Amino acid sequence: MAESLRIWFLASEVAPFAKTGGLADVAGSLPGALKKLGMDVRVGLPYYRMVKEGGFSVRKVLEGLEVPLGDRVLRGNVLETTTEEGIPVYLFARDDLFDRPYLYSTPKGDYPDNLERFTYLSRAAILFAKQAGLDFDLIHCHDWQTGLIPAYLKTLYRADSFFSRAASVFTIHNLGYQGLFPQDKLPICGLPASEFHPEGLEYWGQISLLKAGIMYADAITTVSPRYSQEIQTPEFGLGMDGTLRKRSADLYGILNGADYHVWDPARDVHVPANYSPGKMAGKRRCKESLIQEMGLEPSLRKSPLLGMISRLDFQKGLDLLVQILDEVLALDVGLVVLGSGDERIQKAIQAAAERHPGHVGLEIDFNEPLAHRIMAGADMFLVPSRYEPCGLTQIYALKYGTVPIVRATGGLDDTIQAFDPKSGKGTGFKFVPYEPKALLDQIKKAVKTYHNGSAWGKVVKNGMKADFSWDESARKYVLLYKKVKKGNKMETRG
Ligand code: ADP
Ligand code: GLC
Repeated sequence: MAESLRIWFLASEVAPFAKTGGLADVAGSLPGALKKLGMDVRVGLPYYRMVKEGGFSVRKVLEGLEVPLGDRVLRGNVLETTTEEGIPVYLFARDDLFDRPYLYSTPKGDYPDNLERFTYLSRAAILFAKQAGLDFDLIHCHDWQTGLIPAYLKTLYRADSFFSRAASVFTIHNLGYQGLFPQDKLPICGLPASEFHPEGLEYWGQISLLKAGIMYADAITTVSPRYSQEIQTPEFGLGMDGTLRKRSADLYGILNGADYHVWDPARDVHVPANYSPGKMAGKRRCKESLIQEMGLEPSLRKSPLLGMISRLDFQKGLDLLVQILDEVLALDVGLVVLGSGDERIQKAIQAAAERHPGHVGLEIDFNEPLAHRIMAGADMFLVPSRYEPCGLTQIYALKYGTVPIVRATGGLDDTIQAFDPKSGKGTGFKFVPYEPKALLDQIKKAVKTYHNGSAWGKVVKNGMKADFSWDESARKYVLLYKKVKKGNKMETRG
């Protein structure tokens, strides 16, 4: 049996407890894959309203944990629950900070006290570990919400013998969220003013919690090999490329995996009929049922049905779709979109959809069961992102025989191989320039392929056979944990 490391795994969302996007899927499934490889993993996240109302069985394990926050000391409880794989999950409770309708922002914008909220989480995670004697070899934290943790280990708690062996790995799931706050809020974080400089957590005169994670962690990962390269360039670096280049010797791209216990049409509990590569009748039933559920014209049964499930965010390329919607629908296709987020994007897509009743089904909501029904019921799946660190929906779509049409960027480019009708190889359709016409051209190509039954059968089957389970990527994380723990550099990359 491999050496077992104790991993303290901190994220701001973890499925099935709290989710707004793919971070939750990763934080909900990677720990189980690590456990299978012999790691001793414990997970921590805030006790949000969403968790409270989720019907999970929880018990209190610590009362009145004292967490300094600026000139105050907040007291909060820590609860414990367990995942299906038997992994302990610690929930940091503070109702004034986390008992809210959304995790980070309302449709109108971010909560104004996000610095306080996630400083609390980061500091509580460290203090709880010590107080509960939760000894760990390595802390693996994710995105800006936990970016202060590596900084704390290298500064405030450096001399504390309890943490002397603790290394840190920081995973960037999305460089677009940098956790930026005004400099005068530095005392909230509790870090000495001497850390506020460009080699520390300063980003052009502001505090950046993402930068803190990048600068202070022992190793940094991101969620696809391609994105790990892209973010070191000015085009995709969103101002952080210089910082990332500085740390490039410690930056690794490890592709996300899919949790096929949750995302597999053969056993999906949310879909009206199950199916698998040899038994595709269920997919036709899923399509008919989706057409009915979304109030689309029944005649669309025989036409290609396009699906999209997305956070409504600048990142996701919905503006491209809005611009070409009329031309797409002129191809005699149906479209189903499920999304939640930015109110302006919501209005734009709503206005476009209203012009095509019976052909566009739009649901503004966060709805996990409906996401599964769209994945199963659609023929094609759209992911036209501006940038995409990894992307999980296109990976799930492959498994559901729902052919992805994606922009060739980040993890989308790493996971989707363009279909070549001559060789019969490939799993989807890809376009490069961020332009409406480039997306339209690929949709046209996909529609044409759909009407050529045997070619379509091939691209569908190729995708369903592709395997993106966690095993290989989880092994890469374990290798990295071991290297970081020993203080060496890792030889296997990407
Ligand atoms: P991101 O993390 O950038 O949002 P990913 O493709 O990695 O993108 O992951 C998105 C995850 O969130 C998928 O599990 C997807 O099904 C889910 N999702 C996104 N929007 C919705 C929604 N409106 N309702 C239900 N699930 C959603
Ligand atoms: C982020 C990214 C997405 C990635 C997910 C999980 O939210 O936008 O591309 O798949 O995190 O790593």
